[in-house]
Parts: sequence; C-alpha cells; structure tokens
Amino acid sequence: MSSELALANIRAKQVEATMLPRPFELEELPTPALIIDKPALEANIAKMSKHLTSHGKGFRPHAKTHKCPLISRMQIEAGAVGVCAAKVSEAAALLHGGVSKILITSPISTLTKAQILDTLLLGQKDIRIVVDSLHGFELLAKAISADSTLGILVDLDVSMGRTGTRDNDLLLTLVERIEKDDRFYFSGVQHYAGHLMHLADFDKRREKSLSSWQRLEDKFLLLEKHGIDVDVVTGGGTGTYDIDVDVARMTDLQVGSYIFMDEEYRSIGSAQGDRFNEFELSLSVACTTISQPQSATITVDGGYKAFASDSVNPVCDDIPDVEFRFAGDEHGVLILAEGQQEIQLGQVIRFATPHCDPTVNLHEYYWVMEADGLIHSCWPITARGCSW
Ligand SMILES: Cc1ncc(COP(=O)(O)O)c(C=O)c1O
Repeated sequence: MSSELALANIRAKQVEATMLPRPFELEELPTPALIIDKPALEANIAKMSKHLTSHGKGFRPHAKTHKCPLISRMQIEAGAVGVCAAKVSEAAALLHGGVSKILITSPISTLTKAQILDTLLLGQKDIRIVVDSLHGFELLAKAISADSTLGILVDLDVSMGRTGTRDNDLLLTLVERIEKDDRFYFSGVQHYAGHLMHLADFDKRREKSLSSWQRLEDKFLLLEKHGIDVDVVTGGGTGTYDIDVDVARMTDLQVGSYIFMDEEYRSIGSAQGDRFNEFELSLSVACTTISQPQSATITVDGGYKAFASDSVNPVCDDIPDVEFRFAGDEHGVLILAEGQQEIQLGQVIRFATPHCDPTVNLHEYYWVMEADGLIHSCWPITARGCSW
C-alpha cells in the first residue's frame, strides 16, 4: 500500500510545459528562480550527441541532473539510445513523462523496491537495472512477474567503493543466474568512476580513468572465456566525456551535468586549458538583492534552499568581482568590490550553481529563457524529490 501511495504521488505530478500568458522579463519573476537558457541547453545536447556519435559511442544521458522528462525526451530526439535514472522513483517519474528506455544505475536491496520495479515493467517498456549482489538479484527473481522482461547489467567497481562488485566469481554467478531466467536478459556491465570526474588536472584524470577501465579487463576476458556476450558497456560522465570515448570496450556514456554545467565542473581543467568551458552554462539561479545593512555587502534572497553546494559557492558571471557567501538557508551575502555601488536593492542577479544536480532538486520548476532573453515557459521538475 505504501508503494502504491508513493507511485500515485509521482503519477499525479505535472509533466508538460506551461506557456506563460506573455513573455516575462527576468525582473518580473518571483525569486529565487531556477532559470534555463534554452539555446545554451540545446547547444549542449547537440554538441554532446555529435561528439559521442562521431566517436562511435552511444549517448545515454543521466536524468539525475535535470529530473525532467521533457528534457529526457529532447535528448532522445537528439539521438540518445536511452536515458539513465539514479533510482526507481526517478525512473517512475520519467515513465510517467513518456520516456520508456531507462537504465536504473543504482542497485536495489529491498523487496519493496523490486515490487515497485515490477509495476513499472507493465506494458513491456525497455527498463534495465544494475545488480551487484546475489541478494539484489534474488529480490528481483522473487518480485518480477512471469510475463515481464527486465534487462540486467552487472555493476562493476574498481576503486570508487560506492556500488558495484570487484568479485569475478560473483560476476560470473550473477550472469549465469540472469541468463537462466526467462524474465531476465543479461544486457552488459556498468562501471562509473565518479571519484575521478572532478580531478582538476586533465592529464591525471585521463590517466586514471583509462587505467580504471583497463583494470576491468580480467572481467571482460572471464566473460569471453565463458562465451558470454556483453552488449552494453556503460559509464563515464561529463568529466571524462572526451576521455572514455577512447575505451574500445565502452559502448555508451552516461553524461549528466554537461547539459547545465556548474561551478564545480567549470573550475576543473580540460583538454583545452585550466577551465572546463566546453559546454555552455545553461542553468542559473536568479536572486534579488533585498537588504544592505552595510555598504560593503548586499544581501540576496537565495541561500542553501536555493543552491546546493558541496564545496564551491555560487558565481556571478555578469559581475565577476562580486563574491557570494552563504548567509544561511534563505540568504546569501554579496561581498562588493570597492566602489561597486552600482548594485541596487531590488536588482535581479543570476548565479552559476555550485553543483547542478542537487540544486535542481531544491526547485519545483525551471523558468525557460528563449533567445530573446525573455521567459516564455515553465517546465516542471517532475522527478524532484524522487530520491528513493
Ligand atoms: C552512475 C552515474 N552515471 C553518470 C553520472 C553523471 O555524471 P556527470 O554529472 O558527472 O556527467 C552520475 C553522476 O553522479 C552517476 O552517479
């Protein structure tokens, strides 16, 4: 019953865009407001799709970044082979939004989740999930209906130590169990080295990522020895988008953040230089200055409830020498450079987000800015809060 309630909540969520009665200026929005620059978003999608296609790799973008089925549909239109969801609930929201080729990239470990997954399979969608334990597999074996089909990938770990198995015997046992059961098919393997994505030094990032893939070689050889075909070899992210394409075994990349970019990514090195600027900043949070208790600072209406941050602070590209400091849940304080009195009360200022994924999860919808600089529509963040 509790699962039905949770799913009903997701299925009640809005999916489609709302056109505004007229185009709005940024200054007319209630802030803090999450803004998408649509031409930049479209350029990022097109660039990534072209890059991967030109290297003969599939585009399997991760929806954990945007949590918006509308955007997943845009990515599929741009050639994605399918999309990723971090969790079962995120997959449910994507399905509800008309996306039907989904890989769930986290293993599950309870019967409840396996039963919910079974519900999602109704209607024979192309849903796949990773497993990394016999416990997880056995739950699927218990919950999935006789007439359903589920693709299973084995999640492999080398050094991150988050999810995945390092055990070759377990890998083989899992594949054999999957292949013996008519409800399942072995779709391939996943390997995600998230701890390498933000390594600042590009050459080091390249070396570590390629060696991480190389360390999986014994697993591929083991599967080959047993005559097991590995259809999909998936993983990677924005930080290795131009590195992992050189891994011959890899079939597709799970890039997420490239679509928006954020300060954590922009501040690492790239093949081009000491900033990672190959994708445009298409996501920002607009805040309004609301108070000025002292002349050297001015306070905006966005804090930890508007921006999620693990390390860096929001950054204002339009006023580069202004520094943002968090001033609690609802506020940020801008440290003004000397003589920077041109910032007035009531001014709307846009900030690059420190970390795009968890920032998106704080907001209900995107305000979508078109090429004319005006806000024309609103896109619901349907999978917001879907973290189970
Ligand atoms: C399993 C998995 N794949 C892909 C990604 C996407 O990574 P990025 O946002 O760095 O492109 C993530 C992000 O955390 C992830 O957890």
